[in-house]
Amino acid sequence: MDSLETLRALALAQVEQAPSLEALEAARVALLGKKGSISGLMTSLGAMAPEERKEAGARFNVLKDEVAQALSARKTQLEAGALDERLARETVDVTLPIRPERQGRIHPISQVMEEIVTIFAQMGFVVAEGPDIEDDFHNFTALNIPPEHPARQMHDTFYFDERPDGTRHLLRTHTSPVQIRTMLSSAPPIRIIAPGRTYRCDSDMTHTPMFHQVEGLVIDKSTHMGHLKGCLTEFVRAFFQVDDVPVRFRPSFFPFTEPSAEVDIGCSREGGELKIGKGKGWLEILGCGMVHPNVLKSCNIDPEIYQGFAFGVGVERVAMLKYGIPDLRTFFDADIRWLEHYGFQPGDVPTQSGGLSR
Ligand code: DAH
Repeated sequence: MDSLETLRALALAQVEQAPSLEALEAARVALLGKKGSISGLMTSLGAMAPEERKEAGARFNVLKDEVAQALSARKTQLEAGALDERLARETVDVTLPIRPERQGRIHPISQVMEEIVTIFAQMGFVVAEGPDIEDDFHNFTALNIPPEHPARQMHDTFYFDERPDGTRHLLRTHTSPVQIRTMLSSAPPIRIIAPGRTYRCDSDMTHTPMFHQVEGLVIDKSTHMGHLKGCLTEFVRAFFQVDDVPVRFRPSFFPFTEPSAEVDIGCSREGGELKIGKGKGWLEILGCGMVHPNVLKSCNIDPEIYQGFAFGVGVERVAMLKYGIPDLRTFFDADIRWLEHYGFQPGDVPTQSGGLSR
């Protein structure tokens, strides 16, 4: 069996010293392939006497396994080496300055949410967050929208499949559930601003299934409607950067606020061009109101002691108004030319002192 030993030594050397994955594959074919030398040994068994065949067969099999193992070990080694080599070759120096022609843009939605947060942060609000996947309690019931309430139909909710206990999760239809989560997890006084994604099963010229809102909530012992008016008027002026923009609070209805209002800003549409400021027209930009006592009760807050106000701003809408973006759906087309045009420079972080936007 000297020749077998020789074959073994040669085979293992060929495998262990294979310089590349290609060479290793060639070695595998030469050894274990159909016409390979070890496969050849197996074929030779046929010509042997039964006793000899049994003993030789066992030895050939041991050799075959040994070579197969060596092949796999070398393969792992070569692959790791190839990865290391590639990582070294593709190293990126992150300290290099950005090439101006390659610079990305901040999406107007991100920019506008950042602007809104900046204004309210200045007034002492803190940012709060909630999950996109909500349950019925936080999205509806606790917001004074009981199961049979018509507002549930109005929301065109995306529901998930029913779970074994009969409940269904949903994609939040507004950022208002963040109010509930905040009131349940922290004691008043509360002053939060909650930007985020919202979803409704609705898609046409003026609706996209995913859109963005910024929710606000203030809860304290002496908060009243005057605070709501002052706070939102201040916000609108800071956001649109027009000091004397007319602001109108128009009575409205939301189940979670009482009284409720919608805020309109003055505009003119002369010559087909929309201009924010004094004019004959009004544009609705947000919903607001005094938090309904039932909502406070759902969150274990005593409405005899605490009260507050809440508001919800549609981000796409105010972004379109402020930056003259005519079509809602283009926000989500991911068209690089659109982003080049309407997007913002990454360095231009909005601050109230340095300016909210260029
Ligand atoms: N959640 C409402 C919506 O999606 C917007 C809203 C209205 C939020 C009034 C509020 C509010 O917090 O007080 O249509």
